[in-house]
Amino acid sequence: VSDRLQAPRGTYDVLPEAAAARTALETTARRVLEGAGYRRIETPTFESTEVFARGVGASTDIVQKEMYTFDDGGGRSVTLRPEGTAPICRAYAEHGMHKLPQPVKLWYLSSFFRQEKPQAGRYRQFWQIGAEALGSDDPAVDAEAILLLATLLEELEVGGLRLRLSSLGTPEARAAYRDDLATHLRENADRLSPDVRARIDLNPLRAFDSDHPGTREVMASAPLLLNRLDAADAEHFAAVRELLDGAELDYEVDPTLVRGLDYYTRTVFEFTSDALGAQSGVAGGGRYDGLVAMLGGPATPGCGWAAGVERMLLAATQLPVAPAPVDLFVAFEGPHARAMAFGVTTEARSARLNAQMELAGRSRKGQLKQADRLGARYVAVLDDDGGAVLKDMSSGEQLEVAAAEVVARVLRDRGMR
Ligand code: HAM
Repeated sequence: VSDRLQAPRGTYDVLPEAAAARTALETTARRVLEGAGYRRIETPTFESTEVFARGVGASTDIVQKEMYTFDDGGGRSVTLRPEGTAPICRAYAEHGMHKLPQPVKLWYLSSFFRQEKPQAGRYRQFWQIGAEALGSDDPAVDAEAILLLATLLEELEVGGLRLRLSSLGTPEARAAYRDDLATHLRENADRLSPDVRARIDLNPLRAFDSDHPGTREVMASAPLLLNRLDAADAEHFAAVRELLDGAELDYEVDPTLVRGLDYYTRTVFEFTSDALGAQSGVAGGGRYDGLVAMLGGPATPGCGWAAGVERMLLAATQLPVAPAPVDLFVAFEGPHARAMAFGVTTEARSARLNAQMELAGRSRKGQLKQADRLGARYVAVLDDDGGAVLKDMSSGEQLEVAAAEVVARVLRDRGMR
């Protein structure tokens, strides 16, 4: 006997019981986003590694240690996508979408791959619903994106939500700030955790994420980027906030908000849910005005977000889950009736009825029980002589008809109700 195989660590099977809730989530996302002019896009599951090395940033955890990178067999380095924003910016440039009316609003529901340590709410293959608006730096784009995300999470009844918001300014302001922050960290190096100390030059901003007590103390007196925005960035941030205030959306300005991707400029935001454990981030995003150009396209502003499907499902109170109704269950008795049952089922499907036939050799009683389990509206029991008993399962009424008449009867009966 061979060993029983299992799904790879950090991955999971979406079983039929769980599929209905995911469909409900997709339907809600499509309604909210397409209603606001976002159109669906899907990019390949893998990209040239360069897309993420340049786009997400060489100093990030994602690029440094979490990517599934391999040779495609022809000497080209490819990577399973760890996120969706860089690929979409690649596609925007590749297909000349800057020639379309701007902004180009796109949404996706795709799976992503990160070699992280699996735990509750953290997987190595996970799904995101994302939205990206490219080609406008209007603060209303940021506010609209945030409000659509809030609407989506509300409609899914994701509990215990908290929204944090900040601005990272321009890359130049950020670079100058990084130097000052690194100086502050170096001056207090002896109180920092070893990993933060080792990354002072590489990524000093990540020190805000640390839960090491000494590091937290040092960070409490660290300079804040939000206090150093240039006039245009400060004005942009104020405009985003004003629109959110006008929409009466609750949020906190958190100047220590750090996102794990390098492409952000100006607005950044994150939704957390206290219905989740340690991995409390439900959704996050921000503005990335330099990303399309970094990938070789024309200078194009952009803003968007992604929400984790697993985490939304974990934190959602209740999603409407309605299995497809069964209009007709075709049962039969006798050796010749099977072929006729098959024909009636096919005919019913051609007439757009949801139909199923007996496939497991059950007794008459067992077949009726199965029909009941499926919640079938009508059951037809076919006999060997071309006759059938048609039963309306909700009224209990029974009727003898020719097998060839079953579908027409069901259609007529349904039409009368
Ligand atoms: P992110 O914050 O890395 O952003 O991921 C967004 C969401 O994906 C997280 O809030 C979380 O719900 C989910 N997520 C991330 N990693 C995992 C994992 N290992 N297991 C389960 N869920 C996970 C981005 O990916 C950016 N592309 C978002 C964005 C779009 N920014 C601008 N546009």
